[in-house]
Amino acid sequence: MDTTPAFPTLRVVSHPLVQHKLSILRDRETPTKIFKEIVDEIAMLMAYEATSDLALEDAVVETPLERTHGHRVSGKKLTLVPILRAGLGMVEGIYRLVPGARVGHIGLYRDHDTLEPVDYYFKVPSDAPERDFFLLDPMLATGGSAAAAVASLKRAGATRIRFMCIVAAPEGVQRLATAHPDVIVYCAALDRELNESGYILPGLGDAGDRLFGTR
Ligand code: PRP
Ligand code: URA
Repeated sequence: MDTTPAFPTLRVVSHPLVQHKLSILRDRETPTKIFKEIVDEIAMLMAYEATSDLALEDAVVETPLERTHGHRVSGKKLTLVPILRAGLGMVEGIYRLVPGARVGHIGLYRDHDTLEPVDYYFKVPSDAPERDFFLLDPMLATGGSAAAAVASLKRAGATRIRFMCIVAAPEGVQRLATAHPDVIVYCAALDRELNESGYILPGLGDAGDRLFGTR
């Protein structure tokens, strides 16, 4: 994972497989079916890196031959929270790695004119203060949606939150870091800038539309 001095909260997952798959996502010719599969795969590969600091506890295991010592991830209190809609595409890939995780949902859409988030749904497990949250959304553009989602999680009692996206814009990373400096952001790419409509350049277009074929 790479860090950049300008954005201390940012971690860029530079693994070759992630970078290869990201180029397929960016390609305008990639069809919905493949786009969905690749988002799933990138999310899983990124989660592998983003969970590398999870605490382990000792465990005793009975092999077919004898008793031995092993390890288990301690706590089992991981919670995945996709921001609807596009975040949904990242859930299954991560869930395959951590099947004990719970899944919450935050419904937000970005108003086309103001680019500010409008919220319409919120549901997370009731024991939020005891949980580690992975907030999921492929796109961090202005950062309005991410900052609002983190604020909602904190109102529900969450104290340990990481944000996982695929493409981030510098504007969004900065806005999220200013509002929530405690939230580490994982991405596959830090792109150049936003255009006048709030789309990330070079980006990959509208992630929700490309995932669900609603373009
Ligand atoms: C997209 C994306 C993020 C948001 C990012 O969602 O999935 O949630 O925009 O933009 P921001 O950083 O400027 O807030 P969108 O609002 O298009 O909703 P959708 O996922 O339902 O299509
Ligand atoms: N939301 C998207 O889906 N794509 C962008 O480039 C910006 C916001």
